[in-house]
Amino acid sequence: MAKVTIMDHPLIQHKLTFLRNEKTGSMEFRNLVGEIAMLMCYEATRDLPLKEVETKTPVAVAKTKVISGKKLAFVPILRAGLGMVDGVLALVPSARVGHIGLYRDPQTLMPVEYYCKLPADIQEREVIVLDPMLATGGSAIDAITQIKKRSPKEIKFMCIIAAPEGLEALQKAHPDVDIFVGALDDHLNDHGYIVPGLGDAGDRIFGTK
Ligand code: PRP
Ligand code: URA
Repeated sequence: MAKVTIMDHPLIQHKLTFLRNEKTGSMEFRNLVGEIAMLMCYEATRDLPLKEVETKTPVAVAKTKVISGKKLAFVPILRAGLGMVDGVLALVPSARVGHIGLYRDPQTLMPVEYYCKLPADIQEREVIVLDPMLATGGSAIDAITQIKKRSPKEIKFMCIIAAPEGLEALQKAHPDVDIFVGALDDHLNDHGYIVPGLGDAGDRIFGTK
């Protein structure tokens, strides 16, 4: 079964409080999403393999470590996942970025796919899928199903807020995908919104409501 990591870092918890606040405007909201994504990426990349190299310091030759060439790709789920890209690229600037476009039909809550462009060499890469919200899980499950068709080496999923319903559905559908969650909330309401959540992440990032 997939490993689920729920972030307990004080900086993430602190920033989440401001992110949830209905009075937080788009500019601050965007900044917070980027900062939280960067902090979560630090944890999600904890298992990157290292190799030993020799480095000449001004004093001596030291045996030190560098990341041993594992290639990464970040794949944000449009739109809201875009808000996480700058934060993760700040930590791994050499990563490639793919895009997958999905929106939830407001009536059925089912994901509707409208765009998919992934790096050509995705078979050689570990993919980290980004979306701030995991609600019913439909969007993440569908995005990961599409990405798996292109055979990446490994897939992880990173979200800022998850509902228990979505987390369970994602684990069931993709038991091989490790999941990183900023906060696990209480439940979904009748409209498929996470409670207490933060509202509509895409609208708050892009100021469309
Ligand atoms: C939001 C969010 C996820 C999805 C989560 O996107 O960013 O992609 O809902 O819900 P689910 O787990 O029930 O599928 P939305 O459909 O609002 O599209 P947007 O990012 O374009 O606003
Ligand atoms: N998508 C959002 O942006 N927010 C929710 O609470 C659920 C889905």
